[in-house]
Amino acid sequence: MKIVRVSELQQYIGCKIARNVYIGEGQLYIGKNTELTAKSIEILQNKGDLLPFEYVYVHTPDSEGIELAEEVISDQLKFKAKKTINSVFDNINVASSRNFGEIINSIVDDLMENRNVIQGINTLLFYKKNDIAAHCLNTAIIASIIGVKLGLPRNNIENMAVGAALHDIGKARIPPEQLDSRKPEDLLANQGHPLLGYQQADKSSLSLIAKRIILMHHVWEDYEASWESNHNIYQSFPNKLNNNSIDARFKDIYISIVQTADVFDNMCTQGLSKTAVLEYIRDMQYIRFGPGAKALLQCISPYSLGSEVRLNNGMTALVAGHTDIPERPIITFTKGPLKNSTIDLTEKAYLTYQLEEKTGSQKGIL
Ligand SMILES: [Fe+2]
Ligand SMILES: [Fe+2]
Repeated sequence: MKIVRVSELQQYIGCKIARNVYIGEGQLYIGKNTELTAKSIEILQNKGDLLPFEYVYVHTPDSEGIELAEEVISDQLKFKAKKTINSVFDNINVASSRNFGEIINSIVDDLMENRNVIQGINTLLFYKKNDIAAHCLNTAIIASIIGVKLGLPRNNIENMAVGAALHDIGKARIPPEQLDSRKPEDLLANQGHPLLGYQQADKSSLSLIAKRIILMHHVWEDYEASWESNHNIYQSFPNKLNNNSIDARFKDIYISIVQTADVFDNMCTQGLSKTAVLEYIRDMQYIRFGPGAKALLQCISPYSLGSEVRLNNGMTALVAGHTDIPERPIITFTKGPLKNSTIDLTEKAYLTYQLEEKTGSQKGIL
């Protein structure tokens, strides 16, 4: 199986799709194991704006043996969770959906059962920009992966996942045109969303962990020391956390994790490559994110399973598996004298200088 750009599918006529392809709100478009035909490729390419993704998984002759791990969270559960988050947002009422907590718990359950999460979770939900519910769901999934990896208490992971799934609920009270706007006055008004969300959450039975996440997910670790602060670029907000009902003097690990997951998902959806996003998170870990950043960097590999990479010696290969070191995957050569041989990059020091991801931005793919 390898990751192929939709625009380059022509060369794979006759190959089988390796993973279900959905459009819209979870409508199955092409099922796993369907053979690609000129017609289906044309339709896929013409879907254009309807497709929230640029890549599909395809079984190809040069990627034999590279298999996606069993899905940890089923597509059905993801779409159901997204729908539930949406309904909570629409009603702007965290108590409006009785099964909300249950659905989030099922996601945490699935993740807890599979601790090998770096390989176990194939994808997040693909979505188009401005789909707040999908973004919140992805944030909850990534945050839970980190929580499980760190061995945090189950109950706290659940509360964190609920907070993550609702972290941008305040945006539901901001008109969409304003959310999209780049005007300085609108940007400033949009920064009110954590407080708006918190006001809503405070009236509910949500846990303190969840409420603090909703209020503080944009508070930087050491904003005063940042370049942004020196240039009066206002990015850490709300800047006055003098709310009396919660202790908002410091960020806890749960806020830090959700904040990192939030930025990771947002930047990937903007079309940046995972390598670039992870580099930003590494650079900003002490200024912006705190300990959640380090944990995320240990969980997520810059190189997705099935993606094409170029080595510093000019050879190309496919990522065939992950190791404990996210930057050093197991690769299979697809061309040249080493064709079909597989090496573990943790064992090959001389090949570890640079891996360049050729498939580029892969939003939605972990
Ligand atoms: Fe936010
Ligand atoms: Fe967000």
